Amino acid sequence: MSDVVKLPPTILVIDDDAEIRYSLSRVLSSRGYQVAEAPNGEQGIALVKNGPPPDLVFLDVRMGGMSGIEALQHIRSANPRQLVVLMTAFGTAQTAIEAMKYGAFDYVMKPFDPAKVLALAENALKAHADLRAVGDYKPTINADDYREGIVGSSPVMQDVFKVIGQVTASDVTVMITGESGTGKELVARGIWKHSHRSGKPFIAVNCAAIPDNLIESELFGHEKGSFTGATVQRLGKFELCDGGTIFLDEIGDMALATQTKILRVLQQGEIQRVGGTETIRVDVRIIAATNKDLEAMVKAKSFREDLYYRLNVVRIKMPPLRERNEDIPQIVDFCLQNLVKQKKTRVAKVSPEAMAVLVRHRWPGNVRELENVVYRSAVIAQGDAILVKDLPLEIREAVGPVPVADTRVETTAPFVSPAPVTEAPAAAAPPVPPPPPEVPPEPALTLPAALDFVFAQLAAGDDPVLPRLEREMIARAVAADKGDEARSAKRLGLTKAALLKKLREA
Ligand SMILES: Nc1ncnc2c1ncn2[C@@H]1O[C@H](COP(=O)(O)OP(=O)(O)OP(=O)(O)O)[C@@H](O)[C@H]1O
Ligand SMILES: [Mg+2]
Repeated sequence: MSDVVKLPPTILVIDDDAEIRYSLSRVLSSRGYQVAEAPNGEQGIALVKNGPPPDLVFLDVRMGGMSGIEALQHIRSANPRQLVVLMTAFGTAQTAIEAMKYGAFDYVMKPFDPAKVLALAENALKAHADLRAVGDYKPTINADDYREGIVGSSPVMQDVFKVIGQVTASDVTVMITGESGTGKELVARGIWKHSHRSGKPFIAVNCAAIPDNLIESELFGHEKGSFTGATVQRLGKFELCDGGTIFLDEIGDMALATQTKILRVLQQGEIQRVGGTETIRVDVRIIAATNKDLEAMVKAKSFREDLYYRLNVVRIKMPPLRERNEDIPQIVDFCLQNLVKQKKTRVAKVSPEAMAVLVRHRWPGNVRELENVVYRSAVIAQGDAILVKDLPLEIREAVGPVPVADTRVETTAPFVSPAPVTEAPAAAAPPVPPPPPEVPPEPALTLPAALDFVFAQLAAGDDPVLPRLEREMIARAVAADKGDEARSAKRLGLTKAALLKKLREA
């Protein structure tokens, strides 16, 4: 017979009430979990710090001596990966909020519903296994190397970088197109930062956000009294931006009358304030952006053809994120490192499964949506890594079931984008990594090592080792034999009557 056994998950119950410890231990050991107990926060912390850390801790909030919230903070600062479930009979908002604030995995009310406790333990232990699987996470990039803020090494992004480099030396007008959230403004700023105009202002104007009757005043300024409400003279963005770069965002939403005036700036470098007669020379570089189909608008005569050609000297097309999903791990690492730097999170890792979900998502909101999801998930995560359970439901559901990733695969490995469902017959699909194993590898121990572990755990508690060991073994036998007491008794080396007596006494 092989003496290699699987180590059962270990759970530490910290409560000053012996009855609670006992009943919780019984419920948990009925599932085969290895339960250790501590009668107060101090001893519990010592067990977590000195022994092999348990996979999960159930911690009472109100105890004599150190409070549960205090113990939680000690435990979490000693090991940020330690998952802790707080228990209380007093469900005040304050305790619940504090529990989650200090990083509890969850929070349960006494008296317990055994089924709920078991479901909770199962979820927590799954999270624990996932966190362990993240292991030594190697970020794909160092955010400090990307001061531009533009991340991506896919071929399409390399092309974008090259064009940015080419247009920085001159004042050529650039038109940036692409879906919302693809980084149009980021690229416009990148061009400005690298150009000789970087010492002068960069002003972004969102043409879609300003009503038609105000946009001209916004761009060109107005003279006092030029319209109702114009009580003082005001300089427009073009004058304020003299020597710099103006970014006309959503230019497809600009009224035709305003388009004419923009054309004049481009052709003559001149503006007139609203209500004014003076011609003012301005030296401004224009970068425009839109996510509309300007060519179709030109055909429909809602966008001036001459302006279109003036703006469209160089075109930068920002690819949607779904067409460069090999860049996603880098963008995720970039966001996380920045969030850590801004002290908005301590979470700097992502489990391979969670990264696989992020890479497979279609991202209709592009990088902006990805940034938002990374932030939300990092805030929710209880360990030091984002797990699948931390991702917003709509992202998990949109992607569908993700195969369990091989935990040996490093996230630096290139991710293969899934073939679009509508195209590419199976034969033409890109190579897919070999299917990962169904179940993440469980740690395997030899029987002597497992017994050493059990002894260390039991000896650290208050109860004598042998009676406790007997109780644990009996509970396991009964659970394994699903209540067939005759069979359990035989396996344990007891008569059935002796077993029933011990069960009654327990
Ligand atoms: N390549 C990238 N690397 C890192 N962050 C990016 C990248 N592209 C965009 N972002 C981030 O995504 C967010 C959206 O970018 P940006 O505002 O430039 O998009 P946009 O194309 O102008 O969107 P919209 O059309 O909605 O105005 C910003 O927070 C930006 O920093
Ligand atoms: Mg924008």
